[in-house]
Amino acid sequence: MLAKISLIAALVAFAAAAPSPSASPAPKASGAPVAAPIIPIPPFNGTFANAYPPQDAIAPTDTPLVKAWLAALNLTAVPDFPVVPFTASGDPQNPTSIPADSCDWTETNCINKDLTTCPLGVWGLTYDDGPTTFSEQLYDFLDTTNQKATLFYIGSNVIQNWQAARRACGAGHQIAVHTWSHQPSTSLTDEQFVAEVKYTEMAIKELCGFTPTYFRPPYGDIDNRIRGLLWQMGYTSVIWDYDTNDWMMAPGGTRTMAQVDAAFAGWIANAHNDTTGHITLEHELYQNTVDAAIANLPKLQATWKTMPVSACMNDPHPYKEKNITLATMNGTTAGVAGTTTSVSSSTPTGGAGSQPSTGAGGKAGSNSASKSGLAKATFVVALAAAVALF
Ligand SMILES: *[C@@H]1O[C@H](CO)[C@@H](O)[C@H](O)[C@H]1NC(C)=O
Ligand SMILES: *[C@@H]1O[C@H](CO)[C@@H](O)[C@H](O)[C@H]1NC(C)=O
Ligand SMILES: *[C@@H]1O[C@H](CO)[C@@H](O)[C@H](O)[C@H]1NC(C)=O
Ligand SMILES: *[C@@H]1O[C@H](CO)[C@@H](O)[C@H](O)[C@H]1NC(C)=O
Ligand SMILES: *[C@@H]1O[C@H](CO)[C@@H](O)[C@H](O)[C@H]1NC(C)=O
Ligand SMILES: [Zn+2]
Repeated sequence: MLAKISLIAALVAFAAAAPSPSASPAPKASGAPVAAPIIPIPPFNGTFANAYPPQDAIAPTDTPLVKAWLAALNLTAVPDFPVVPFTASGDPQNPTSIPADSCDWTETNCINKDLTTCPLGVWGLTYDDGPTTFSEQLYDFLDTTNQKATLFYIGSNVIQNWQAARRACGAGHQIAVHTWSHQPSTSLTDEQFVAEVKYTEMAIKELCGFTPTYFRPPYGDIDNRIRGLLWQMGYTSVIWDYDTNDWMMAPGGTRTMAQVDAAFAGWIANAHNDTTGHITLEHELYQNTVDAAIANLPKLQATWKTMPVSACMNDPHPYKEKNITLATMNGTTAGVAGTTTSVSSSTPTGGAGSQPSTGAGGKAGSNSASKSGLAKATFVVALAAAVALF
């Protein structure tokens, strides 16, 4: 059940090894023009002001920063379940020793306030493990239909591929945390887990000016100890109900593109039986996972309303900075407090007859009716906001 960690780790290492150090310009995947930012982001000259731990290694716990982060929490109030030892191949060494009341999702599918689905008719679009050198191809494609998604970022990759991160932040995608070094969360101590989350948060804040509040555990590995830490840090955890297993298309992996396509096709064929919407697991980790995402997105858009998880939850404030608003299903529009920019949260399409009966339809209609006017307004407002902010 649990994804094989060695393979993912190899992939993350592969992505990290790709050349992209700080000062080089963003590799533009397709040459398509990048839309003006919807969310103004701070200036960045290629040199981080903050000190970050080594990439792709468990974040240290002995720095003054981590000590300060820990001091702000009450670890006594966190459920005291033991750290779970994992094998090198990515499974708990002794699954039967995991206590039932720890509500471990990977071992028992136990849910405790984790988000796993969107409302009926809605597809929560999520891409994990970015940003990578392949990400901008995906972002270019999303831009062609003004599609927004939730991006669960690995902190080490944010440092490595900061140009792609800043682009996605400005575009109004929902940026969320996926730890610093992609370990199974329950294999970490309280202190290590807090360090992994907070260093990732700090990198996103430095590059984008905001602090995420949504988290996805690597491998879906979460229990009540990890949830207790997340809740104290102000996070909502997001798992999924549909897993593409696209990451298994990696070199040496066991899954073909045809199998990933078939998984999407099966979900689409069964959409008329849906009793809930969905949250999917896809990856912007590798060229073929991005290819699969691009090939299948139009079919999803034709079947469900596709949008970020925060949008399907009607949460206009997925960042700690509450003056930043992202688009939601019920009509909230993206921008920064004091501005009036307006962008639809998804690409509404005809699709299956199971659209949610919210105000989204009417709102979406009015958005598309005045798209070019809005694009202009967005640009002006973004400029004005950027000037006002910086
Ligand atoms: C770039 O930004 C860093 C961090 O804010 C700063 O220390 C550095 O002096 C800046 N470099 C230049 C050339 O402006
Ligand atoms: C920390 O949590 C414990 C257990 O819930 C509680 O008894 C204690 O008062 C809390 N400490 C602080 C400083 O809030
Ligand atoms: C889906 O609906 C069809 C009827 O349209 C039915 O035959 C089939 O058994 C249903 N499948 C599931 C998995 O519920
Ligand atoms: C959208 O839904 C959220 C949560 O249900 C609610 O707080 C908000 O007021 C709604 N906004 C609109 C414009 O309906
Ligand atoms: C938004 O709020 C943050 C603090 O949460 C503040 O630093 C920032 O200046 C605010 N931006 C605007 C445009 O008001
Ligand atoms: Zn992951």
